[in-house]
Amino acid sequence: MSSHEAGSLHAQGRAPAWLEVPQDVNALLAAIWPAHAAKAADGVLQVGGLSVTDLAAQVGTPAYVIDEADFRARATAFAAAFGDAFAGLGGAHVHYAAKALITVGIARWLAEDGLAVDVCTGGELEIVTRGGIAPGRVTFHGSNKSDAELVAAMAAGVDLIVIDSLPEIDQLDRLAAAGGHQPQVMLRCSIGIEAHTHEFIATSHEDQKFGLSAADGSVREGVARVLARPRLRLRGLHTHIGSQIFDAQAFGHAIQRMAQLTAQVDREHGLRLTELGLGGGFGVAYTTGHDPLDPVDMAGRMAAHVEREFRAEGLTAPHVTVEPGRAIAGPAGVTLYTVGAVKSVSLGGGFDRLYVSVDGGMSDNIRTALYGADYSATLASRRSEAPPRLSRVVGKHCESGDIVVKDEYLPADVTAGDILAVPVTGAYCHSMSSNYNSVGRPPVVAVRDGLANVLVRRETVSDLLARDLYA
Ligand code: LLP
Repeated sequence: MSSHEAGSLHAQGRAPAWLEVPQDVNALLAAIWPAHAAKAADGVLQVGGLSVTDLAAQVGTPAYVIDEADFRARATAFAAAFGDAFAGLGGAHVHYAAKALITVGIARWLAEDGLAVDVCTGGELEIVTRGGIAPGRVTFHGSNKSDAELVAAMAAGVDLIVIDSLPEIDQLDRLAAAGGHQPQVMLRCSIGIEAHTHEFIATSHEDQKFGLSAADGSVREGVARVLARPRLRLRGLHTHIGSQIFDAQAFGHAIQRMAQLTAQVDREHGLRLTELGLGGGFGVAYTTGHDPLDPVDMAGRMAAHVEREFRAEGLTAPHVTVEPGRAIAGPAGVTLYTVGAVKSVSLGGGFDRLYVSVDGGMSDNIRTALYGADYSATLASRRSEAPPRLSRVVGKHCESGDIVVKDEYLPADVTAGDILAVPVTGAYCHSMSSNYNSVGRPPVVAVRDGLANVLVRRETVSDLLARDLYA
């Protein structure tokens, strides 16, 4: 498109359909805040029994705040829901997906609470083992694992390595031979099902990097190759169909295809696979526009699909693993920011929008810029009697796409020095953070029963310069 005068095309004015003008701009919408978040009479947000103004004074802003009890309750609720739903079948385990959010302190919580973990790099493996997760409770993923990562995984004694490609079979076999290991493996299958948010598509082809394609025969070839290498022990097949999924039917289709593939292995090799990996992807509510199933409901529906589809293939139900990341970490986290510059922009037609700049941005939450993700925000440091104004929370980076919250009603008097809180930032914010514009990354602070526990301290300019060999 050639350049033109910026006009209403760019304004894209009004609020999106799901965003309602709030009755009370100070109120929290329970569905999107951590379990232990509430506002006091003076309007100050409390998380885990601590006021965010005290927290901000203690650790500064921006800061990732994790409601520890909420995170742990979500993890154990998932484990219980899947354990119960699959008890009459082959059983099920929940492996927390470390990619969503992991620190050594969080790994300790998971270890104490008996959770298993999935990692996809050597870095994640190092963090979880330092946190005390037994290697026998770790699954190792990754779409392009290095020799060093595979050697580290085998040396640590991880329970399972999920093979992602045909060349990885030879790579792993070579490294297993050199180290005298006999790793247990699963094969990640891509099965033509892609699910995101409210939609999923089922196709017969695959056009993405992950896994061995069922459609082009790579799964069949992969199984044969693994079985031809006696050092590798094939335990089962795995698939991960996407993220932010709300519809159990998407998993239903995946389970049907995986049952068919499991039956194919049985027919062709006389091998009864005992394990089925169904990945993660359970959706969460970022805004009132989302309505996720609770884990008990989701687990019950998935168990019904497993029972039906494996029976249809004449097979007993395998042991199942699921790997939720976002659904455990996401809703437990809140990001605190301090407001700086505020300006009002006229959108024409009597509409305007408040641009509220905060002291972080796309370096601590890339999801809005990268995926067009929706978030919410609230004025967290005081009560306001001002009317709601359509607002956009933007960061401090040199980029107009540096948006944290695209659309939200904030009090019209929001001003420099106010603290804003953005909920559901526990997953894929810290873990995807960057140093764009040489900005240090925020601390990760766990709060519980009125106590703050800094899990990861703020990154300083000295930290950044420590890697610069000319500094
Ligand atoms: N298991 C496997 C094999 C995965 O690839 C993933 C996510 C998960 C489990 C966990 O999925 P979850 O339950 O967290 O949806 N950065 C994106 C999400 C990428 C997810 C990649 N794989 C985001 O911020 O939305």
